[in-house]
Amino acid sequence: MIKKVCCIGAGYVGGPTMSVFADKCNDISFNVVDVNPDRIAAWNNKDLSKLPIFEPGLDEIVKRCRGKNLHFSTEVHKYISEADIIFISVNTPTKTRGIGAGQASDLKWVESCARQISEHAKGHTIVVEKSTLPVRTGEVIKDILECSQSSLNSKNEKTFDILSNPEFLAEGTAINDLENPDRVLIGGSNENAIKVLHDLYKRWVNEEKIIHTNLWSSELAKLTANAFLAQRLSSINSISALCEVTGADVREVSRAIGKDSRIGSKFLNVGPGFGGSCFKKDILNLVYLANHFGLPEVANFWESVIDLNIWNQDRLTHIILEKLFGTLTEKRIGILGFSFKANTNDTRESPAIQICKNLLNEGASLKIHDPKVSTKQVALDLGIPSIEECSKNKELNKLYIDKKWEKSHLENDFFDNLDAVIVLTEWEIYSDINWEKASKKMRSPGWVFDTRLIVNEEKVINSGLSFWRVGVGTVKRD
Ligand code: NAD
Ligand code: UGA
Repeated sequence: MIKKVCCIGAGYVGGPTMSVFADKCNDISFNVVDVNPDRIAAWNNKDLSKLPIFEPGLDEIVKRCRGKNLHFSTEVHKYISEADIIFISVNTPTKTRGIGAGQASDLKWVESCARQISEHAKGHTIVVEKSTLPVRTGEVIKDILECSQSSLNSKNEKTFDILSNPEFLAEGTAINDLENPDRVLIGGSNENAIKVLHDLYKRWVNEEKIIHTNLWSSELAKLTANAFLAQRLSSINSISALCEVTGADVREVSRAIGKDSRIGSKFLNVGPGFGGSCFKKDILNLVYLANHFGLPEVANFWESVIDLNIWNQDRLTHIILEKLFGTLTEKRIGILGFSFKANTNDTRESPAIQICKNLLNEGASLKIHDPKVSTKQVALDLGIPSIEECSKNKELNKLYIDKKWEKSHLENDFFDNLDAVIVLTEWEIYSDINWEKASKKMRSPGWVFDTRLIVNEEKVINSGLSFWRVGVGTVKRD
């Protein structure tokens, strides 16, 4: 009988996943451990608006379960030693140096987990790969765990089973995705271990949705799912550029192709390009694997998905530059949205980062709004201190004299003297802006660039502002 579960890694996956597990399995104790004490302190904050991750519905679950059967702690070894099941849910970013730098996954955090488990686990433990991992990582984990098995005498015997159980949640909808998953994937070879994990999920997931595969298929299926999703976005984003120059409207094209049940209507929303911590990293990983196994054509095919995404972000900068008479020097631009998608505070690989950097390099000064991203995070992502920070320090002021940005509320004065406004994230509030009022505050001729197709077209056009939309182009007045 499973009594205690430990999850190593209290991030975007570990935190919400264990919260939902705890909510569905009241008789089991879920202990989420992390080496980052600030993150754990934030998970334990009494003020639920200060949890480290913003995810709709998460605060309610944490309120129900925290302190009962859901605990957040830095005591990694203690909770490893008590656990019947351990989920490895740590970060697996792209390697920045050495062989495979820029493509392969850096597995140092996963290896460190395996070593800690090998040292501190007791009795029989099921180790579950929850992180997204290159195919055959299970072998590395197994090798490390087996070292500890063989070095012990039979009295203190430790035994392990390894399963792969990749996570398919998307940020912003994580709680719903976890409560109502399309499928749960369990890869492994030991039927008893698979049954234990299967039985946990079946408490709330229809058994028909729980798929069993071998370990390697499970690892590769996760990478493949992300690659297919990202490829779909690069496909539709490439078509959006064609729409803008031909007079076709990408919304109509998407609707028409989405009606074909073989294609389907989901994941066809054009945008500034895909962001988020995983699509790029997981495709790069696939590219690395394909090259490693001597399949350069496969590698090139998947790499082109990323190339298109980078091109898409740069092309938006070119369009903005061209519409604003070829120069952004001394122009003021409002940025609406900095997170990589709505309903999350996550900015990892957000297209807003590259687009803002491009605009700053062209000499524009930026006023940035996002409902959930902090000023500190924007500064970290841009690598440039805000106007407020610079004003406190002469050296900084001199260094960044032509790269100015500030974070701002979305109140009336947001639009003061702006030459253009660019919508980069599809936060709902941006679909309801009073453009009549905004246009009166902006410099003329003022532009609105909508890279998410969420702005009310009629209101912008009636306000007298010029309007450009991704996948449509410049909207002509009747
Ligand atoms: P994250 O960076 O938000 O969290 C990882 C956490 O692990 C960090 O807080 C870090 O301090 C902790 N950690 C690292 N090594 C540790 C160790 N040895 N002991 C204890 N704690 C340790 O990452 P994330 O977004 O939660 O992603 C985790 C994994 O899940 C990645 O492999 C990712 O590809 C995958 N994934 C992410 C998402 C997503 O939406 N973010 C969705 C599906 C899968
Ligand atoms: C994605 C996958 O959807 C999850 O299944 C997967 O578990 C996760 O990656 C992961 O492995 O990390 P996520 O990145 O959180 O989830 O969010 P998505 O909804 O997939 O959006 C990714 C990017 O694509 C965002 O920048 C989003 O704005 C963009 N997008 C998405 C579009 O431009 N158009 C769309 O129609 C959908």
